[in-house]
Amino acid sequence: MDSKSNINLDKLPKHIAVIMDGNGRWAKQKGMPRVFGHRNGVTAVREITEGAAEIGVKYLTLYAFSTENWSRPSFEVSALMRLLVETVRKELATLTKNNIRLQAIGDLSRLPDSSRKALLEGIEKTKNNTRMTLILALNYSARWEIMQAVKTVAQKVSDKELTPDQINEQVFEGALSTAGIPDPELLIRTSGETRISNFLLWQIAYSELYFTSVFWPEFRKEHLHKAIEDFQNRERRFGKTSEQL
Ligand code: IPE
Ligand code: IPE
Ligand code: MG
Repeated sequence: MDSKSNINLDKLPKHIAVIMDGNGRWAKQKGMPRVFGHRNGVTAVREITEGAAEIGVKYLTLYAFSTENWSRPSFEVSALMRLLVETVRKELATLTKNNIRLQAIGDLSRLPDSSRKALLEGIEKTKNNTRMTLILALNYSARWEIMQAVKTVAQKVSDKELTPDQINEQVFEGALSTAGIPDPELLIRTSGETRISNFLLWQIAYSELYFTSVFWPEFRKEHLHKAIEDFQNRERRFGKTSEQL
């Protein structure tokens, strides 16, 4: 049976966030260099983007490079940056054909010029697409994002645009790089690691977390469907009792 048929399309998460992990271990297991894993990770990105869009998910956020990832060997960092340019350029036609809008969160100013240029071009060319928004988290760190938001709000207070008691969750959210994007209802991490690694700390306050041992390069539509099915079988209580729902 098609793994999609177990999904209730009326109860879909609007926003799914993914920590794509395990590229290096997948490659190592095959006796290949880590970069081979990253290259094969692109296939999974393509599959999951298509898979999410085709069932009707509206936002998909993929954690592609964390601020901490700069500490990796420089050749791995360069390979990842090149892969980014290559992938965005290659996939642009497919994104357009599939009516998918590309966006990015993170400190893009630190990316190499060529990577940033390819990315901004992709964002510009797909900005009017409406089927799904694909958000790449690049040089992203949730604590960095929160600090940026604090500075933005503080500046508004200092400019007398806001008083301290007017600061609320809505104001704060508006200063995050995810402003206007609903919080992810479902967060998936591949590769068996069960940590958040500085991803979307504010936005996942009430997300359902799903961990799978599948390495990212092997993650396919059926794995995505399974994660959604698992999500749909959970009771999201938001502090209430079961009886109140
Ligand atoms: C995820 O795979 C991709 C990035 C972080 C860029 P890893 O490269 O972290 O692979 P593992 O975790 O070492 O196996
Ligand atoms: C998290 O994976 C970052 C991305 C998936 C881009 P890492 O592999 O860098 O995380 P840690 O180091 O295992 O926490
Ligand atoms: Mg990892």
